[in-house]
Amino acid sequence: MKKIKILILGGKGQLGREFVEVLTTKKADLGNIDAVYKDCQVTSVDIDEIDICNYQQLYNKIKEGFDFVINCSGYTAVDKAEDDYENCYKVNTLGVQNLARICNELNTILVHFSTDYVFKGDSSVPYREYDLPCPATVYGKTKFLGEQYLTAWCPKHYLIRTSWLYGQYGKNFVYTMLDLAKTHNELKVVNDQHGSPTNANDLVYTTLKLIQTNAFGLYHCTGENECTWFEFTQKIMELSKIKIKITPVTSEEFKSRAKRPKYSLLDNLGLKALGLNYMRDWKVALKTFLSKIKEK
Ligand SMILES: NC(=O)c1ccc[n+]([C@@H]2O[C@H](COP(=O)([O-])OP(=O)(O)OC[C@H]3O[C@@H](n4cnc5c(N)ncnc54)[C@H](OP(=O)(O)O)[C@@H]3O)[C@@H](O)[C@H]2O)c1
Repeated sequence: MKKIKILILGGKGQLGREFVEVLTTKKADLGNIDAVYKDCQVTSVDIDEIDICNYQQLYNKIKEGFDFVINCSGYTAVDKAEDDYENCYKVNTLGVQNLARICNELNTILVHFSTDYVFKGDSSVPYREYDLPCPATVYGKTKFLGEQYLTAWCPKHYLIRTSWLYGQYGKNFVYTMLDLAKTHNELKVVNDQHGSPTNANDLVYTTLKLIQTNAFGLYHCTGENECTWFEFTQKIMELSKIKIKITPVTSEEFKSRAKRPKYSLLDNLGLKALGLNYMRDWKVALKTFLSKIKEK
């Protein structure tokens, strides 16, 4: 069997590190990964080594020869982006354009991640891949333009939109809430924004299944079923057996610099159609995650 060569960009981030772990151990929470990855060669780099905004640096790296480039890099500071829009644009739009041009020229398959924030968030039914984006924030807008450059420049791509991501590595909502619970008697959490928490390990597993298909295109990939941030917090505390007062508040009461979508549920329609929707109910995936971090 041909040895698969994979380059991970943004390899020190939350999702990047999860990819490295799964590809190295060959195991995910959902099971062993496919035999095709048995002898795969994984190269992981982050901005200190390869800056996706630097075309020549990126070109030289990808020219070393890879079957897949998995882009886990991104400017993800949603609130900061409202003022720091130039830097956000550089990473989420220009960087992705660079990647798409280079991968197309070198005939390398490009796997890229985008976000539920490309949608306006005023729907009452889950967004599907055929729904038209209308982002409201700088982060969402730069990610959306990145998506457009990706599709324009590089036909051999998997564009995967996810949401409310949490994993073992890096900063995320689950860790933030567990930390706050150590120092507070009460947590006030927004209860009028609806979405789907996504376990990074499940996202990696599903992505590794998807990218073997040659069914290039756009996919939504999030945890199944929905909740609000308040309900998410309730479940985190219940499963962690932490007793703490949790008070629901409105987005109005809990103002943030970037306006969050009220409803940004994604339907994994494309994955379901291919028979590849391995994503679990968010509560089940959260339970696995919390037991795993407890063991560490
Ligand atoms: N987190 C979520 O809830 C969420 C939701 C939907 C979609 N996504 C998307 O999923 C992807 C992964 O997210 P994540 O949570 O893993 O993000 P993350 O933890 O912030 O990781 C991103 C990584 O990219 C690096 N990076 C930043 N600028 C770069 C550049 N110019 N060149 C190379 N690397 C660069 C970052 O380095 P520094 O830390 O040094 O900047 C960081 O290591 C992103 O595309 C994000 O937009 C995330």
